[in-house]
Amino acid sequence: MQTDLPAGGEPGAPHDERLAALDTDEKIALVSGNGMWRTHGVPRLGIRSVVMADGPNGLRFSPEQAAEDGGGNADFADFISLVTRRGAAAAHTRGPEPATCFPTASTVGATWDPRSARELGRAFAAECRSFGVGVLLGPGMNIRRTPLAGRTSEYYSEDPLLTGVMAAGVVHGLQECGVGACVKHFAANNSEIERTSMDSVIEERALRDIYLRAFERVVREAAPWVVMSSYNRLNGVQAAQHPWLLTRVLRDEWGFDGLVVSDWHGITDRPASLLAGNDLDMPESAQRVARLRAGVTSGAVPPEALDRATARVLRLADRVAAHETAPAPFDADAHHDLAARIARAGTVLLANNGVLPLEPAAAGKLLVLGTGAVEPVVQGFGSARMVPTRLDVPLTEIERRSAPGTVTHLPGVPAGPHTDDERRAARAAAVAAAKDSDVAIVFAHTPQNADGENADRADLGLEPGYDELIAAVAATAARTVVVLTVPDAVTMPWIDDVDAVLVPFYAGQAMGSAVASLLFGEHSPSGKLTTTFPRRLADTPSFLGYPGEGGRHVYVEGALVGYRGYDARDLDPLFPFGFGLSYTTFALSDVTVDSGTVAAGERLTVSVRVRNTGPRDGAEVVQVYAAPERPRFRSGPRELVGFARVELAAGQERTVTVPVDADDLAHWDVTRGRRVLDDGPVRLLVGTSSRDLPHQVTVRATTDVPRWAPLRRDSAPAAVLANPHARREVAALLARRLGVDPGTADELLQECRRSFVNVFDTLANRFRLVLDESEIDAVLTAARQGEARGG
Ligand code: BGC
Repeated sequence: MQTDLPAGGEPGAPHDERLAALDTDEKIALVSGNGMWRTHGVPRLGIRSVVMADGPNGLRFSPEQAAEDGGGNADFADFISLVTRRGAAAAHTRGPEPATCFPTASTVGATWDPRSARELGRAFAAECRSFGVGVLLGPGMNIRRTPLAGRTSEYYSEDPLLTGVMAAGVVHGLQECGVGACVKHFAANNSEIERTSMDSVIEERALRDIYLRAFERVVREAAPWVVMSSYNRLNGVQAAQHPWLLTRVLRDEWGFDGLVVSDWHGITDRPASLLAGNDLDMPESAQRVARLRAGVTSGAVPPEALDRATARVLRLADRVAAHETAPAPFDADAHHDLAARIARAGTVLLANNGVLPLEPAAAGKLLVLGTGAVEPVVQGFGSARMVPTRLDVPLTEIERRSAPGTVTHLPGVPAGPHTDDERRAARAAAVAAAKDSDVAIVFAHTPQNADGENADRADLGLEPGYDELIAAVAATAARTVVVLTVPDAVTMPWIDDVDAVLVPFYAGQAMGSAVASLLFGEHSPSGKLTTTFPRRLADTPSFLGYPGEGGRHVYVEGALVGYRGYDARDLDPLFPFGFGLSYTTFALSDVTVDSGTVAAGERLTVSVRVRNTGPRDGAEVVQVYAAPERPRFRSGPRELVGFARVELAAGQERTVTVPVDADDLAHWDVTRGRRVLDDGPVRLLVGTSSRDLPHQVTVRATTDVPRWAPLRRDSAPAAVLANPHARREVAALLARRLGVDPGTADELLQECRRSFVNVFDTLANRFRLVLDESEIDAVLTAARQGEARGG
């Protein structure tokens, strides 16, 4: 158990008086759950209980369950059944209240619109307030490392910049309305396989630049009130018991001043978790409370550690109480409209040969296929699954926009368990109907009841039967449109045979109307992929390491996650990161940058003229990627460093500005333990997807950190010669030992340039010396002092 506690970051102890008035049992209660969803209050001191609720795409709140006193233990069976239950009805065993089922992060991310994310946060806050919920357990912001991961629909992207910007929007929106955000799951929780025991083994730079980076942005920019630690291990240590993660990095480096809560039942060693910086243990567990009490009694948990965690619970309770208002009902209509707007903006048009948009009331005979057209697939499975206030049914919405009597629906693939014969019969019926239709619209989804929380997808396929259905219909129908309600990438063996593909992802309760409005051209699609769609699973960068073995999941691709990995290997994806079509066209021109140089701490502004050159109103996402000419770090050929979504009426043009922070051009340097801005020319590539970047401007980055590596015992002569401090000290050593002047010693050192043996052994062997370890240590120390002074 770790006992040398790091400082813990936050200023002072603002709750001293109440802390002094609390006895040990009360403190232990405060840092432990009260039933499933609440903290304890201490009425005599005016300390309020805080109510928390899931989740990331809408509120799942059961007043009955939240009010329950766990009597020592929260209802464990209920919790497990909630998380693992599969099926359309699975939401909660004891009736949560209906709330708006907003688009999941998979769709929200695809808007590339932090303003929408912020609006979403405000709407979440209004719904939380209407139920007296003080903290929402979201947004989820893990990196979508593999499309197979069970919770991809709860997360935004494979890219940390996009993830961080979108999550920060939600956090801002929630907290400016007085409801706490709880960003989760911290950290490196990127698969559901053996979810509470798997060790995510990640090298330091990938961890810093990819997996921690989005959390860092959100903590620094949006100051969430709560961070939820994750279930998994990270480099050998349970995340909920990880002092480096929860205190050194989160508090001391990033300045987090909020509360760390465990994921539900995520703590195995409660004293260790408290010492590591996991303040609150959720939900209630008599066993963990007893263990904490034993730790406090034995002295293993010092009183200051308990006080520190208690103070953080008090701070959260104060924050929540300060914003408390009388519950008022939320505006369900307005929220449904917001859900529809975000669903539209986050739906990605991947292919279209002109079949879309359909002519309202004149699209001819429409054949709508798929059970998802009548029972829409709009959210994932697990703790995020909630009960919508209403549900727009795609078939109804399509009928509403079509001439009477022109729309037919068939399942195409039977719902539920069925035999091969039944499946063939359903497909044959669909194909027969397709012959007689002008457009077939197939709603297809991934296997339901299979993935989600606690289970990854088995492959990148659709629900069995759908690939065959789409291929057969595409071969028969005059035109075929595929609508994919999926959590992340799927393979599309029929892609060359269909006329259009529209992907709303898991788009929430308004998906039906949103998709219909796009099909019929009431709006132009404008979503952009936030992950790469591969041609096959083996192309995914994580493929060789996934899903781990022997309890260890080695992230073999390092920082080359998502498009970075495809670009580094020059692999041709099915659809690249950032890609999405529109019904209109855009021209980008006049790309400029406000400075030709950039140094640490500075911000560049890239300006781009964007014109809607097509016949319809629409939105485009200007994307800026950095491509250093002499990269010091292996991060793929280019990385997203800025973006801006712009709405333009037909014919309208506007200059869009995209801020690019030097810190986002920087990388984590493992030799120095800090972020470092590369020096040299950096091309800023500008376009509308990671593979369509026709414009560029070049800036020169000046670094405050030289390229040479710090001197080590095992540094080879070439590395020493590149480091002026090391060179001076090593030459001085040589001069002393050979009795020559420093200039001559430096020349002799240069003659050793080609030796691959470490510099000290090289000198010893080359000049027949015996060097003491103490002499070597002195040189190392002197060089490090010089390096630290700089120059
Ligand atoms: C999930 C969290 C969720 C919690 C409470 C856990 O199983 O991982 O995301 O907030 O349950 O429902």
